[in-house]
Amino acid sequence: MNPDKAHNLGVAPVTYGEGTRPPRGDYARARADYTCEQAHDRYTAADHDTYRRLYARQLQQLPGLACDEFIAAVQQLGAPDRIPRFDAISDRLLKATGWQLVGVPGLIPEEAFFALLAARKFPVTDWIRTPEEFDYVVEPDVFHDLFGHVPLLFNPVFADYMQAYGAGGLKASHLDACELLARLYWYTVEFGLIATKAGLRVYGAGILSSAGELHHSIRSTEPQRIAFDLKRLMRTKYRIDSYQASYFVIDSFDQLFEATAPDFTPVYRAVREQIAATGEVEAGVVLPAERSFN
Ligand code: PHE
Ligand code: CO
Repeated sequence: MNPDKAHNLGVAPVTYGEGTRPPRGDYARARADYTCEQAHDRYTAADHDTYRRLYARQLQQLPGLACDEFIAAVQQLGAPDRIPRFDAISDRLLKATGWQLVGVPGLIPEEAFFALLAARKFPVTDWIRTPEEFDYVVEPDVFHDLFGHVPLLFNPVFADYMQAYGAGGLKASHLDACELLARLYWYTVEFGLIATKAGLRVYGAGILSSAGELHHSIRSTEPQRIAFDLKRLMRTKYRIDSYQASYFVIDSFDQLFEATAPDFTPVYRAVREQIAATGEVEAGVVLPAERSFN
């Protein structure tokens, strides 16, 4: 019995939003910090083929939809026809921004997640979806984690934001504010849009790794696209099993970093007071006097 493993057995990661199944993945393989070796030899030819097809489908959709920073960095993932080795990407990432990738069996508890980010280690799920899940997978898999998240870790400002988020998460745990902070992750890191001179573009990983939402998030007239406002965002609920009804739009990664740099302790207090007074905001709702990009 490896004593390192005893700490995490049976601990189900906390997830907010709505879902029905327990997390997938073999947590008995994980170390105490929830990281595990990437079992690269265990990928089958079919696994590599799933990755290749997912990558090809997303890549051809990027022009005009993904932000330039993402498009410029996507080739850092290496050959698009096989699931890459995390170590090979880490070598490049360490040189670029001081980040590295670590394998994980799947979703991990938020304190463990925050601690890794604060140490500039990005956890990447090592399994890949089944062919039946080609179009939609509920939980993040290796394709989502690599393709969606890793290119922007090569951007210095975004890389610093991710580390600051991790440090902020450790603090939020003590302030019982993780649910509010999770909304920031959701609406920026996973589903963020950025306004550029050429028009709105995607930087959120949940969109970048989705076949349908890339187009939907930028071109559909259905969703609301609301200017980024930290407190407003933290009052807003989200759905985990459909396209987003609201997206928040930043002007630049510098804006995002600066807006989130101050101590959140008074922010959490103000957001809680506002929620107590007027309630949470449903996704898809635009408040009076709000700037919408539609
Ligand atoms: N400034 C935040 C805090 O004090 C930390 C943080 C930075 C959180 C960036 C999220 C994103 O909690
Ligand atoms: Co993600």
